[in-house]
Amino acid sequence: MEKNVTQTKAWKKLSFHYRFFKNTEMKNLFAFDAKRGLKYNISLGPLYLDYSKNRFNEKTMQYLLDLANEVHLKDKIEAMFKGEKINKTENRAVLHTALRNRSNTPIYVDGKDVMPEINQVLAKIKKFTNAVRYGEFKGATGKKLTTIVNIGIGGSDLGPVMATTALKEYWAKDIKCYFISNIDGSACDDVLSQIDPETTLFIIVSKTFTTIETLTNARTCRKWLIDALGEYAVAKHFVAVSTNTKEVAKFGINTDNMFEFWDFVGGRYSMWSAVGLSIALAVGMDNFEKMLDGAYAMDCHFRSAPFAQNIPVILALLGIWYNNFFKFHTQGIIPYDQDLRFLPAYLQQLDMESNGKSVTLTNKFVKYATGQVLFGGAGTDVQHSFFQLLHQGTQIVPLDLIVPAISHNEIGDHHEILVANALAQGEALMRGKTVGEAAIELSKTGKTTAEIKSLKRYKSFAGNRPTNTIVIKKLDAYTLGMLIAMYEHKVFVEGIIWNIDSFDQMGVELGKQMALSILPELQGQASGLHDSSTRKLINLIKDLRK
Ligand code: F6P
Repeated sequence: MEKNVTQTKAWKKLSFHYRFFKNTEMKNLFAFDAKRGLKYNISLGPLYLDYSKNRFNEKTMQYLLDLANEVHLKDKIEAMFKGEKINKTENRAVLHTALRNRSNTPIYVDGKDVMPEINQVLAKIKKFTNAVRYGEFKGATGKKLTTIVNIGIGGSDLGPVMATTALKEYWAKDIKCYFISNIDGSACDDVLSQIDPETTLFIIVSKTFTTIETLTNARTCRKWLIDALGEYAVAKHFVAVSTNTKEVAKFGINTDNMFEFWDFVGGRYSMWSAVGLSIALAVGMDNFEKMLDGAYAMDCHFRSAPFAQNIPVILALLGIWYNNFFKFHTQGIIPYDQDLRFLPAYLQQLDMESNGKSVTLTNKFVKYATGQVLFGGAGTDVQHSFFQLLHQGTQIVPLDLIVPAISHNEIGDHHEILVANALAQGEALMRGKTVGEAAIELSKTGKTTAEIKSLKRYKSFAGNRPTNTIVIKKLDAYTLGMLIAMYEHKVFVEGIIWNIDSFDQMGVELGKQMALSILPELQGQASGLHDSSTRKLINLIKDLRK
C-alpha cells in the first residue's frame, strides 16, 4: 500500500524546512555563493539547463531528492520503460518511449515484443513519406501531392502543429502544411479556401476514430474533395492514422492507407508515432528520425542519470517544491524562438491533461495540489503582454525560458537582441529592484524629493521570482526531440510524486457527453433537463439563429 506522499519523511522535512526558507532571497543565495550559477546546471548534448535561479538551497535539494527516492521513482521509471501497465485506470502500458527506442531492444506487453510492429509502422511511414515527397504517390489526377492537411484534435493535432512549426526551416521547398482541429466551420473554411484539391493529401488522425470534431471535419473535407474530383479520388487523397481499423474502414478509407498505432500510446504522447506523419512529410524521414534520436537521448539520460544530475527529475522536483509548498500553482513556458510559439499550447495538453487529477492511484481523493496551470507564449512578444504581472503582480509564476544560441535567421542583430532579452528577464525576475534602489535611480534622473516619494514604490520590483533557463544550441529535429521528451518525463515524475494516473483523461468526458445531449435540442428536438441558465442560453441561441 502506497503511503500518502504528505506522510513521507522527506515531505515532512520539506514542510518544516519551507517555514524557515520561504523568505530567503535568491539574490542573497547568489551573493553568499559566488559559484551558485556554476553549480546548478546540467548539460546534455546540445541542451543546457541552468536551474540556479530557483528558490532552493542544498538542503532543499537534498530533501527533494530524498522525496524522489522515497516514492521509489527509480523503480517507477523502469516500470514505464519496461512496459508495465502503469496506466492503472485503463489497464494499459505507457510506451511512447518504445516509439523512439533506437536501441531496438525488445519491450514486452502481455508477453509480446512490441518493437517489430513499431518498426514496421516506422518503415511504412518512411515508404509513404518518400513516395509522396518524390512524387511517386500522386493525386487522382496525376499531380504531385504538395499540400498536407492534418485533421485531428488534441494530441492528434498539437504535436504535429508544434513540431512542424518548430522545424519550419527544414520543410521541403514545395510542401505546405495545414491543420484543421476545431469543429468551428471557420477552421475548415480557412484551409479549404486556400488549397487545391488536386494537390492535397488529407491525413485523418484520431486514436479512437470516434472524436466528433475530427470526424465532422473529415467528412466536410471528404465532401469538398468529392465535389471537386469525384468519389474515386478519396483513396488517393485521404489516409488515416488510428488504432481503430474498423472505424477507418467504415469511413471509406482503404486500410492499406491506414497507419496504425497502439493503445499504449496516449494521444498527447503520440507525435513519435504515425501521428507525426505530417511532420515526416514536411521535414523528411531523416529529420523525423533525428527527432526520435533526440528523444531517445533524453530517455537514456532520464533512465540512467543520478537524480541530482537528471534534467527531467530536477525540473519536476522544483515543480513540486513550488506547487505544493510555496503554493505557486501556475507555470509559464516562454520560448525565445518564434518557431516554438506553439510549444506552450502543446505542453498545456501534455501537462494539464496528464496531471490535472484529483484521485490517487490508490483510489482516494487527493489532499494536496496536483497539476499546475500552464501557459506561455513566445518571447519577446509576451514581454509586452503578460510580463507586467510576472514582475509586479501578487502571484508568483515560475518560468522556463527556452533560448537557442544560434538562430536560423541571423539577420542583423535580431538574435542578440532576442537573447539579451531572455537573459535579462531571468536576471530581473530574480534580482528585482528595491524601493531604495528605485529611489536612487529616480534621483539620478533629476526628480524632486516629492516626485521620488510618490513614484518609488511603483518603480520597485520584489524580485525573487524563479526561472529555469534552457539553452539549446539551435532548434533542429534532434534538439526538439530532446526538449519534448524532457517535458514528458518531467510530467511523469510529478505524477509519480502525486501518486496519480498521468495517462488517462477522464476529465474531458463529462462536457463531451453533455454536448451530445444539447446538440439535438439546438437542432430542434425536444428539450432535456437543464439548469435555468443553460435552458435560457439554449433558447436564446435558437431564437437568434431563426
Ligand atoms: O480531449 C481528449 C482527447 O482524448 C485527447 O486526449 C486526445 O488527444 C484527443 O481527445 C483526440 O482524440 P483522438 O485522437 O482519439 O481523436
